[in-house]
Amino acid sequence: VSRTVREASTFEIRLADLYAPVADELADVEELLRKELRSQFDYVDELVRYGCLLGGKRLRPALLLLSGKAAGTIDDQHLVLAAVVEMIHTATLVHDDVLDEADVRRHLATVNSRWDTKTSVLLGDFLFTHAFYLASTLSSTDACQAIGRATNVVCEGELRQKGTQGDYSLDQQEYLDIIAAKTAALCACSCQLGAAFSGATQDIVRRLADYGRNLGIAFQIIDDVLDLRGDESTVGKSLGTDLAQQKPTLPIIHTLANASAREQEAILAILHGEPGTQPGDLLPFFQRYQACEYAHGVAREFAQRARHQLAPLSPSLACDSLANLAEYVITRSR
Ligand code: IPE
Ligand code: IPE
Ligand code: MG
Ligand code: MG
Repeated sequence: VSRTVREASTFEIRLADLYAPVADELADVEELLRKELRSQFDYVDELVRYGCLLGGKRLRPALLLLSGKAAGTIDDQHLVLAAVVEMIHTATLVHDDVLDEADVRRHLATVNSRWDTKTSVLLGDFLFTHAFYLASTLSSTDACQAIGRATNVVCEGELRQKGTQGDYSLDQQEYLDIIAAKTAALCACSCQLGAAFSGATQDIVRRLADYGRNLGIAFQIIDDVLDLRGDESTVGKSLGTDLAQQKPTLPIIHTLANASAREQEAILAILHGEPGTQPGDLLPFFQRYQACEYAHGVAREFAQRARHQLAPLSPSLACDSLANLAEYVITRSR
């Protein structure tokens, strides 16, 4: 227990440091989420508050605010947009936990395990629609358009992933394309909006969107590594669900691509859960082909690409935080 607490608190200090240039604004965003996510009906009120107000790294709001600050000045519109992207992210998690049959999220029971699947579907819908309502209160329709497009790509990415369930012939590029959609699109959109609403030039807006996309890809690769070898009490969510849901993630794709025909047969038997096999049987193969180390290396490349996009920005604390976030996503333990 003490190890977990120490790791968690080290992490907290670090993430809080990275968020320091926008700490006041992030506190305002929390306030906005608290104010917006209410219902006059007790049952609904408990649910929406449970779904959005507890835990979470708040990475997307932080990306939006830091991008805004790195590219110019942030105002009240950024706060609304930051709340919007967090609501959308949370909606995708509530639905994702149904798809993955997960029990724990943000250190708490998932909505599908504490309530049920039907409640999760409806809560996700409530969060999605509230986010779009809130985005529509801004003077320009640009944000709604960008968020609508990004959310659609995220949903398409989750559908594409569903379509590849159990398909271990998926190659690295196809895997990267799917995670670029399901995870990186919303990170890219957050950075893009932050910069656009600060009046940044088109070039800077595009660069920050690219930063977010590359960072998001690195983030998901590491998420997939953590799913295999993370510590559940540190990460705060159900792990091992990618194997259970037969999702081909990068460590598996890499191992299969390098294994002999005979090894491939043995690995596929384990992945398909054939009698007499268990997920732990994969470990020697992962070790032999340095699967997680390889995935880390690919994540590091994307993190570097993200950092390169920041080159034309004027030096600032917000810009430093964006650069350091690229390091954080590949070194995080939760
Ligand atoms: C989880 O995202 C879903 C992925 C894209 C891997 P986060 O790890 O940002 O989740 P919270 O918001 O901190 O709970
Ligand atoms: C889903 O990826 C990310 C979304 C876009 C919802 P995962 O299924 O790996 O996310 P976690 O691990 O459950 O947070
Ligand atoms: Mg999941
Ligand atoms: Mg995961």
